[in-house]
Amino acid sequence: MYHDAVVIVKSVILIYNRVSMTTTSENSIFDTPTHRADSNVFYATMISSVSPVIDLRGIEKRFGYGDTQTIALDGVDLVIERGEFVAIMGPSGCGKTTLLNIIGLLDQPTGGEYKLNSKNVAKLPPGRKAKIRNREIGFVFQNFNLIHKLTVIDNVALPLTYSRGLNYKHQEKASKILTALGLHSREYYMPYQLSGGQMQRVAIARALANEPSIILADEPTGNLDSKNSEIIMDELTRIHREGNTILMVTHNPELLSYAGRVIHMKDGQIDRDIELVDNKAYATASKFKSRRKESRKRTWIRRRK
Ligand SMILES: Nc1ncnc2c1ncn2[C@@H]1O[C@H](COP(=O)(O)OP(=O)(O)O)[C@@H](O)[C@H]1O
Ligand SMILES: [Mg+2]
Repeated sequence: MYHDAVVIVKSVILIYNRVSMTTTSENSIFDTPTHRADSNVFYATMISSVSPVIDLRGIEKRFGYGDTQTIALDGVDLVIERGEFVAIMGPSGCGKTTLLNIIGLLDQPTGGEYKLNSKNVAKLPPGRKAKIRNREIGFVFQNFNLIHKLTVIDNVALPLTYSRGLNYKHQEKASKILTALGLHSREYYMPYQLSGGQMQRVAIARALANEPSIILADEPTGNLDSKNSEIIMDELTRIHREGNTILMVTHNPELLSYAGRVIHMKDGQIDRDIELVDNKAYATASKFKSRRKESRKRTWIRRRK
């Protein structure tokens, strides 16, 4: 009885908050950052107390058949709450990209259950998956994956062309996001005219175009030097602070100071799942010089399982 009442009160607050956000923050990721950040943090807290954003149970992925079969994922159970910043690590070939592709609905598991925002999505037809993906998920890849024949602004506006609305509105929105990422003067450049760091910022702008709540980044700094890596990580941190959920595959332990949780994978399974609350242990292992490292002191605290 008491539990039911708590759930009802939480739901009412949640709906109120969702309505007030949609009425006050249209196209406003970058208009009113403080307000948006505050309400999103509150929103994230409320949602996370109701249901996880990603819920994987016994996920398997096999490629090929018979003797040539590869088991890329071998029974992955993973629950991610809204607003988490999760780093995924592990040796090459352990299944990190496969896991991200399944979470991002780019690939289908061969077994197990996947609930995204409490909805079973593992077996949806490709068209429905594409719609959900376009609305909910932004991707950032190691090699940027920009379309070389399109200008920077057209690359960023591309995901918007799959949704409704007028073309000039899409361009306006793309321009706004690029400006917020410090790339206003590069809008009409072609991707090959940019540095690696700038290309990745364009890719982040494109990932943000539809205001997704989940960002999946597969080694986003893998091709960047340390200065550009820090710029990209600062962007991801800002996006995270706005209340978004971030999953980032990385080989670089120095980047763990940005995450709140690290998942180590091995042979297609989750080997360790650790929450980072205070990272003194990592600070000694890491030579990464960043403002963040000074401001956030954490240590490995506990394993989730
Ligand atoms: N499309 C595919 N066809 C066949 N095997 C694949 C395919 N994609 C990935 N694999 C295999 O699945 C395993 C996991 O790959 P991947 O998820 O890319 O690992 P990681 O990102 O951790 O390096 C590897 O053995 C890889 O060779
Ligand atoms: Mg990979």
